[in-house]
Amino acid sequence: MAKDVILTGIRANQDLTIGNYFGAILPMIDTAKNHSDEYQINLFIPDLHSFTTPIDHSKLNKQIFDNAKLFAAAGLPLDNPNIYMYRQSYIPAHSELTVILDSFTGYGEMGRMTQFKEKSNSNNDMVSVGLFNYPVLMASDILLYNAKYVPVGDDQTQHLEFTRDIAQRMNKKFGYIFVIPESVSKQHEFFGNDQGLRIKDLIDPTKKMSKSDDSGRGVIFLNDEPAVAAKKVMGATTDDKAEINFDRDNQPGISNLLEILALLRGVRLDDVIKEFKGHTRYGDFKSVIANEVEKFLTDFQQKLGNIDENAVIAKLEQSERDMTPVANETLLRAQQAVGLRPKD
Ligand code: TRP
Repeated sequence: MAKDVILTGIRANQDLTIGNYFGAILPMIDTAKNHSDEYQINLFIPDLHSFTTPIDHSKLNKQIFDNAKLFAAAGLPLDNPNIYMYRQSYIPAHSELTVILDSFTGYGEMGRMTQFKEKSNSNNDMVSVGLFNYPVLMASDILLYNAKYVPVGDDQTQHLEFTRDIAQRMNKKFGYIFVIPESVSKQHEFFGNDQGLRIKDLIDPTKKMSKSDDSGRGVIFLNDEPAVAAKKVMGATTDDKAEINFDRDNQPGISNLLEILALLRGVRLDDVIKEFKGHTRYGDFKSVIANEVEKFLTDFQQKLGNIDENAVIAKLEQSERDMTPVANETLLRAQQAVGLRPKD
C-alpha cells in the first residue's frame, strides 16, 4: 500500500519574514520530520503561482532556489527519502491538469473567492486571468499527488474547499479519478489548531506582520541585517500601561513581543509570560527581545550561507524525477475520463 500523502507549498516571490518562518516554514518542517515515517511528504515551491500578481521577473529564478535553500537552512532533512521537495513548473502535469479542470470550474465560483476579491481590489495593476484561476492550479497541485492532508493557513481554506469540490464533481461525473483530500476540520484535527499563529506588525500590532507594510519598520525579514532588526524591535509600538501583561486586546504590542520571544527561544508562551509579567521597564524587556532577534538572524543567515547548494539542486532534481510519473498517472486518469486518451 502506498503511504498517505501530506502536501504543502510555500510561494517563492516574497521577502520572507520571521512571521512566515515561525508561522509556516518551521511548522511545515516539523510536520515533515515528525510524520515522514508513516507518510509521504510533498513540499513544493509553487513557482507558477508566483506571478499571478505582478513581480520582478529578473529575480524570480533566484528566489525559487533561495526558497529551497531556506527550507534546508530551517532544518529540512534533504537525505530523507520520504520527503520530496520540488518545483511546480518542473512537472508539466500541473499546468495540463489545470487546463482540463478550468472547463469544469464555474466563473462565478472563482469570482467569489475571497483572496481573488481582495487581491483584485487592492491592486491597481491589471487583474490577470492567472489570479482568477489561481485556485484551479492549486487544486491540481494537490490532486495530482493524491494528497490527503494539506496544512495551509486560514487564508487558504477556501481554496482547499474548492479542491474537494472540483475533485468530487469530476469523480461524480466521470467515475473515480481523484483522491479527495480531508475536510478542513479533519485537517485541523490532524495538525492541531496552532496553524493560525500569526506574528503581528511591530508598528501596528493589530495587523499581521507582512511584507506589504509600507515602510518595513514593523517587519523583520529573514534577510535583515541583524543589527537593523534589533533596532526595529527597540522601535516597536507598546502602550502607556507601564506594566507587562499578556492581553491581546488592550496591550497588543507587548503581547506580540511576548509571543515573538517565546518563538525565538522555542519555549511555551506561558513560560515567557511568567518571567516578565508585572515588569515595568519596557526598554529592558525590548532589549531582551532585540538581542534574541539579533542572535537568531545571525545564526540563521550563517546556516543559510553554509548550505550545500549542490545538495539542494540534487534534491530538487531527484524529487522532480520521482514525482513526474506520479503526477502523470493522475493526469492520464483525467485525460482518459474526459476523452482525450483511450481508456485501457
Ligand atoms: N496558495 C498557497 C499560499 O499562498 C500556496 C500553494 C499553492 C499551496 N499551491 C498549493 C499550498 C497547494 C498547499 C497546497 O500559501
